[in-house]
Amino acid sequence: MARDPWGLNERAFAWYYPRLMALSERAGGAALRARSVGAASGRTLEIGAGNGYNLPHYTSAVTELVVTEPSPHMVELLRARLADDPPPVGRWELMQTGAESLPFPDASFDTVTAGYVHCTIPRPELAIAEIVRVLKPGGRYLFVEHVRAPDGSVLGRLQDVVRPLHTYVAAGCNPNRRTEEFLRRSDLEIEWLEHANLPRSSPSVRPLILGAARKPA
Ligand SMILES: C[S@@+](CC[C@H](N)C(=O)[O-])C[C@H]1O[C@@H](n2cnc3c(N)ncnc32)[C@H](O)[C@@H]1O
Repeated sequence: MARDPWGLNERAFAWYYPRLMALSERAGGAALRARSVGAASGRTLEIGAGNGYNLPHYTSAVTELVVTEPSPHMVELLRARLADDPPPVGRWELMQTGAESLPFPDASFDTVTAGYVHCTIPRPELAIAEIVRVLKPGGRYLFVEHVRAPDGSVLGRLQDVVRPLHTYVAAGCNPNRRTEEFLRRSDLEIEWLEHANLPRSSPSVRPLILGAARKPA
C-alpha cells in the first residue's frame, strides 16, 4: 500500500498505539519487556522506542541510555515521558533517527535493544547490519519482536492476507515479518531465543520472539 502523503496513519498510530498496547502491557507484556531490556548494561542504544514502554524496565546497570525514534509524533511522546518519569539509568539522551543509518561510530555500544520494531523498519537487513556495526565486539542485542507464524499455519496465511491493510493502519508494521530469519542470517550469534505470544493482542501480531544475540568478540 502506498505511503500516506499526509502521514495521517502515523499520527493516528501515535495516538492509539500507547492506549491499545496498555492492555497488553498489563496482561503480561510488561514482564516480557523486563526480561528483555532488564538485561541491558553499560552504554545502551534503544532503536524505535515509540512512546517509551521499555523505559521503566532498564536498570542501574545501564550507564548511559541513548533512546532513538524516527517518528516526530512518537518523539514528542517520548520527550514527555522522559521528562515526567526518567528511566533508572546513569544518564539518558533522546535522538530522532531511524535504525537503517545510525549516527554513531562503530563499536560504541555495549547493548542495543528493540521492542516490536523490526516489523516496521522498511529495510530490516540494513538495520541489523547497523546494530552489528555500532555494537562493541562481545556486545549484546536484546529483542522482543512480533513475527510471522510458522509456515503452513492458518495464522501465517492470515497475516499474509491482512498485511496491506494492517501496514497502513499500523503505520508501516508488517505482521508477517520473518525477523527470526533476518537475525539468523546476520553476523550476530543467537544466545537464546524463545517463542511466546503477545498477551491481549490481535491474532495478527500475537506470535513473538524474545531473546538475545551477541556480536562475536
Ligand atoms: C510498534 S511500534 C513499537 C514502539 C516501541 N518500541 C515499543 O516497544 O512499544 C514501532 C516503532 O518503530 C518505529 N520505526 C518506524 N520506522 C523505523 C525505522 N526505520 N527505524 C527505527 N524505528 C522505526 C516507529 O516509529 C514506532 O515507534
